[in-house]
Amino acid sequence: MANSGEYPVQTVDSVAEACDGLPDDAFVLVDSTVLRLYPTIEAHRSCLGVDATEEAKSFDQIGTVLQAMISAGVRRSTVVVAIGGGIVQDVASFCASILYRGIPWTFLPSNLLSQADSCIGSKTSINFRGYKNLLGGFYPPNRVVICQEFLTTLSDADIRSGLGEILHYVVIEGESAFARFQALSGRALSGDRSGLPELIGQSLGIKAKMVEIDEFDRGPRRVFNYGHSFGHAMEAASGYRIPHGIAVAKGIDLANELAVELGLLCREDNERIRKVSQTIHKVESFELKPEEIIAALLRDKKNKPGSYGLILARAIGDIRLEYVDFDGPVERLLQREFAGSGRHQPIG
Ligand SMILES: NC(=O)c1ccc[n+]([C@@H]2O[C@H](COP(=O)([O-])OP(=O)(O)OC[C@H]3O[C@@H](n4cnc5c(N)ncnc54)[C@H](O)[C@@H]3O)[C@@H](O)[C@H]2O)c1
Repeated sequence: MANSGEYPVQTVDSVAEACDGLPDDAFVLVDSTVLRLYPTIEAHRSCLGVDATEEAKSFDQIGTVLQAMISAGVRRSTVVVAIGGGIVQDVASFCASILYRGIPWTFLPSNLLSQADSCIGSKTSINFRGYKNLLGGFYPPNRVVICQEFLTTLSDADIRSGLGEILHYVVIEGESAFARFQALSGRALSGDRSGLPELIGQSLGIKAKMVEIDEFDRGPRRVFNYGHSFGHAMEAASGYRIPHGIAVAKGIDLANELAVELGLLCREDNERIRKVSQTIHKVESFELKPEEIIAALLRDKKNKPGSYGLILARAIGDIRLEYVDFDGPVERLLQREFAGSGRHQPIG
């Protein structure tokens, strides 16, 4: 498949500055919460508010958004502007990719997870018949504008979720990225958000290097699934109650525990990573049923007959795809961790 092209990623301080640069006739899809917090977004153009729920990514809801676009007179040259987190991104990018066989879209990511991760990579995904992210493709925006003012209104859970996602990048990258993350995430969790722009830059830099090598996620980019197989399975088992990045932070712990058991990762590195990951996920309740997590893991695209395909760490900076037999250490780990009528038992 051909490379789908480059797009600029620009950083601005204020929402007013970010909105000033948008075309007057843009069609704006905006997270309803963001619109409530930043009502000036609506000042000069019409906006469609989208509630940030997985239901918004359903086939039916996508039809409603497409209808609204057509009714509003969107043409092939109209720019769709998405302002929000991953949900609004997926809704806007998917609609833009199929309407008139593709119209331009611009993304203003508004939470930490979307600014540090999902705003680059070009993936579009919607849910279908109860399956998450089943339909989609690769459709890059024409521009990404990261606005720092948005970080000031994020809830503690949004900050933790973004940090969980960034954690998996820095463990993949290596020791110095991990050390910097340790310092800056600690500050962010104690209320000082001034280090977040540096973490966002670091995270996007790590992701961009890999996206350049493997834009369409055919091979090397799969290391970014570190913490995600268990994370996605826990999100699904929780009915998407647990924020994505918080599930990833906990998924990193489970993947590392398994890697220790398989003799791949030393206990010392496991402990060092867990010290950081726990600061992110410890406030979350993981009251989940092990059999529901296993059912979700069995649907993972990386599996092959008879074994789970899991991205596991051998050290900080050395992460690889490994195959682990069904009905073995994965099931034992999950039973140990989550047994007891869905009550959470911390690892270790
Ligand atoms: N396309 C991709 O590359 C990609 C990558 C990762 C995740 N995703 C998808 O994204 C979704 C998860 O994304 P998410 O975690 O960003 O969730 P989300 O879009 O639901 O946002 C999380 C919360 O942040 C709030 N929020 C956003 N900006 C805010 C602001 N400035 N101030 C206050 N609150 C704000 C939202 O209202 C919401 O409650 C999932 O559906 C996932 O599949 C897509």
